Formats: sequence, C-alpha cells, structure tokens
Amino acid sequence: MSRQKFWRQIRLPRFAGEANLPDKTYGQELRISPLMMLELLHSHRSIRAYKPDPLPRALVEGIVAAGQRASTSSNLQTYSVVAVTDAAARAELAHLCGDQDHIRQAPVFLVWCTDLSRLDRASQLRSLPHAHGHLENFLIAAVDAALAMQNAAIAAESFGLGMCYIGGIRNNPRDVIALLKLPRLVFPLVGMTLGWPDAAPILRPRLPIDAVLHWEEYDRSDEDTLLHQYDREMAATDIYENRQIPVPGKPGETEDYGWLEHAARRVAHPARTTLMKVLREQGFLGEEH
Ligand SMILES: Cc1cc2nc3c(=O)[nH]c(=O)nc-3n(C[C@H](O)[C@H](O)[C@H](O)COP(=O)(O)O)c2cc1C
Repeated sequence: MSRQKFWRQIRLPRFAGEANLPDKTYGQELRISPLMMLELLHSHRSIRAYKPDPLPRALVEGIVAAGQRASTSSNLQTYSVVAVTDAAARAELAHLCGDQDHIRQAPVFLVWCTDLSRLDRASQLRSLPHAHGHLENFLIAAVDAALAMQNAAIAAESFGLGMCYIGGIRNNPRDVIALLKLPRLVFPLVGMTLGWPDAAPILRPRLPIDAVLHWEEYDRSDEDTLLHQYDREMAATDIYENRQIPVPGKPGETEDYGWLEHAARRVAHPARTTLMKVLREQGFLGEEH
C-alpha cells in the first residue's frame, strides 16, 4: 500500500486537524509520537514464516511484561502464559493445533491461558469460598487474557518481531492441557507464534469503518452496501487466490471468491464442539452458569 493511501485509510488528517492533542500525559512529555504508534498499529499482519533465530529470554519477558500492563478486570489478572521454546514440544503443539507449520518454525510459542487457579489459592489463603463455575468468571478471564496478549503483540511488533495468533490451540484442548501440565482452573485460550519474520505478507484490508462504528445507536441501513464494498476489495487482493467458484452451467467461468463467501463458509458448521465439556472438566463452568 502506498504511504498516501495508508494515511487516507486511517483518516488521520481529519483526526489531527480536529483534535487538540496534548503534548504531556501524567505531567510528562509524550515520549512516543501518535503517528508512529498509529503507523505501527496499522501495519499489523499475521506472520506465518519465521527465521529460526532464537529470541533472548529477556526479550520474551519484556514482551509479556508489556502485556501485563493492560487493563485487567478488578486487577485480578486472571491469565497466565506458557512460553514454549523446545523444538519437540513445538512440533507436538503444531500437530495438535491442526498441523500449522509456523508453530514449528517460530522459535517461541506463547500459550495464553485463562487462569482462575491463583484466585482459588487466594480464596483458600483467606478462607473464603471461590465462586468460579460461572460464565462471568470465564469471560473475565478470557477478556483479561485477550487484552494482555494484544498488548504483548504490539510490544513484539514494535521490536520488529512477527506474531500470529493460534486459535487452533483449542482443537485438542485436553492434549494441550496434558502436554503443558495445566492445572485445574487453567485453560489454553489462544496461542501466539513469535519470531523474526521471514516474509512480508500483504496487509489484509479491514471492513470500512462505518460497518463497525455506530454513532449513538446501532444502524444497519448501509450494511449490505458496505459488505459488498468490502467483499469486492478483498476479492481484488490475492488473499483468496485459487478459491474462485465455478459458475454453474458455464464451464471455465469463475465467480470471485470474496470475504462474504469466505466468512459464510467459515461459520456454516459448528467448530470445536467439545469445549463446553473441557471447560467443565477444568472447573470453569458448573452445572449452572
Ligand atoms: C483469536 C484468533 C485466532 C487465530 N487463529 C489462527 C490460527 O489458528 N492460525 C492462523 O494461521 N491464524 C490465526 N489467526 C490469525 C487471523 O487469521 C488473522 O488475524 C486474520 O486473518 C487477519 O489477518 P492479519 O492478522 O494478517 O491482519 C487468529 C487470529 C485470532 C485473533
């Protein structure tokens, strides 16, 4: 994407012109340019090809520590991370996550877990009951973990590292729990490959801002127009190469495969249907939730 198009996409001129930006925060000079921060955020792309070079332990610690600075519900910090560097363990995890080769390649695989076990210990130490078997507690932990992992992702990208989230960690959760020795009240929510990128994939366009930002109340009036606009934009990239659909009765002719077809196919069937059971086994959901 050209630089000009980039700035147009993030609508910065409008924002910068209207906003009265402060030059201090918490009484200190702003040390990072908002433009640089926005440029970093807008240049995110998932990396699925890595150099084998290992990452210094201190770098991984610094990245996770940045994750820890994220907001967390009531400061409960209901998540943990298992950093896997061992090649054999990464190969096993790659297999369990749907045979995703980038987990084998990346020198570090972070497994972000919802973790209510520390609170369980706090409850024991203070001789209080722990009402953990409710959906709300799991949601608190899932949101906490997601905020922390995204903070960590940004920190990693600010160092020039690449990352890719791995929802495939929930394909075989019981095996992952056994492999990583996760105790009761700990559940592997999302994985994250981390390493030096060995490719620069194209930036995946996002939905038009008007499709996701509603002012004052939810407004679907332009939804179809916006979805079709995005569908065409995505179809024009080479992201869905070789996925064109044959036109019935017209041999050799193909229809574009865009985001609408991709998204609709993705949600046409239920996925990972044992999760409720595994969450119960790990103590996250009781009979009544
Ligand atoms: C929770 C979550 C789970 C994901 N799981 C996977 C995965 O298992 N494998 C993978 O290659 N990408 C995975 N992704 C990456 C998405 O496919 C990717 O973010 C999306 O296609 C947008 O592309 P971009 O990140 O390059 O902008 C996941 C992303 C999220 C947020």
